[in-house]
Amino acid sequence: MSTILILGGAGYTGRSLARHLLSQSQAEIILAGRTLEKAQALADQLNADFEGDRVTARRADAAEAASLKAALRGADLLLVAAPLTSAPYETVIRSALAAGVDYLDVQISAKKFAFLGSLAGEIEAAGRCFVTEAGFHPGLPAALVRYVASQLDVIENAVTAGYLNMGGSKLPYADSVNELMEVFKEYQAQVFKNGQWTKASSFDMRKFDFGGDIGVKNCYSMFFEEMRPLPEMYPSLKEIGFYISETHWLLDWVINLVVMAGLKLFPQRGIRPLGRLFWWGMMNLPGPPYRVELQAQASGLKDGEPAKVQASVSHTDGYELTAIPVVAYLLQYLDGSARRPGLWMMGHLVEPVRLMKEMERMGVKVALKTISGC
Ligand SMILES: NC(=O)c1ccc[n+]([C@@H]2O[C@H](COP(=O)([O-])OP(=O)(O)OC[C@H]3O[C@@H](n4cnc5c(N)ncnc54)[C@H](OP(=O)(O)O)[C@@H]3O)[C@@H](O)[C@H]2O)c1
Repeated sequence: MSTILILGGAGYTGRSLARHLLSQSQAEIILAGRTLEKAQALADQLNADFEGDRVTARRADAAEAASLKAALRGADLLLVAAPLTSAPYETVIRSALAAGVDYLDVQISAKKFAFLGSLAGEIEAAGRCFVTEAGFHPGLPAALVRYVASQLDVIENAVTAGYLNMGGSKLPYADSVNELMEVFKEYQAQVFKNGQWTKASSFDMRKFDFGGDIGVKNCYSMFFEEMRPLPEMYPSLKEIGFYISETHWLLDWVINLVVMAGLKLFPQRGIRPLGRLFWWGMMNLPGPPYRVELQAQASGLKDGEPAKVQASVSHTDGYELTAIPVVAYLLQYLDGSARRPGLWMMGHLVEPVRLMKEMERMGVKVALKTISGC
């Protein structure tokens, strides 16, 4: 039986991870955070909701290696669901290696990704399985491309687009928004076109038809590390990219530009006020439909004929759509089919067809459409 410590276990992502893990697996769960009372209250609630008294709470401050070392005693796997701004990635990653546990994170950060890369040899030599770039995005874009590729014999184009509209939820501002500001600072927008990557600084804009009640949206390119190896994995690919949908003109063309310029001028002092402005816009400006959706549209060949495949995943709760793919992947990790020593990105290690089935079972709306002979 595995024991999984969720760092930030009482946060939005952490508690959704805990609930799905308890309902889908036999794992024991440790909820860890700086405020023991908060983690303990949730542990008590979860033990009341699920059989087996499988949840405990521990105090842990990710900024202190000694505190993490103590919290990780007896754990097999560390799930990092605390924002990197208050949980320094170097300390967390080094602590996982020192404690001899496996590791999975859901954060987006070029610096964290590079740091993990520098330790890849050490991780593999230690026989540990470290999984990064897990969750919705990062996490699902590469998995969805591999899913649509599995429906074709030859894949030539795969465009993915995200629609992120949490406007109906009115979530309060939290530390994790500060982390989004760090993402703005290191924003990259390259896509793979005509067989090569465009420049990291270049932007690509395209119209993407999500269909249904979302319809056609202007979408802007956004780069995720998980996309980089895909052209090598599928040498027939001529075009691949991730695009994020427009939301509301004031947010897209005023607030976002103010945030980007403000972060250039005040890279540290600007984080909190600009984060608050951005979050206010996200929560208050966009109109319905309120949901989070990711779609992949691919074309290629099937049985020697031209074919198109369209796949989408969506949920009304963005935190659920972050936690469910992680837990669906972890079911493959826990049965050993997707646990391998080394450093991996979730979207590459997971078996995508089973991932989609498990996600659907856990409440994600999954759709797949194939048009052959087009
Ligand atoms: N991949 C994806 O698709 C995706 C989507 C959404 C979010 N995320 C990521 O998920 C992470 C969590 O986001 P969230 O919105 O769930 O955050 P949240 O609700 O603010 O919760 C964060 C939790 O982390 C704990 N925490 C903060 N600093 C800590 C520290 N130094 N040591 C130990 N625990 C600490 C907090 O508890 P205490 O205050 O008690 O310590 C809190 O329970 C963020 O990094 C976010 O970027 C990823």
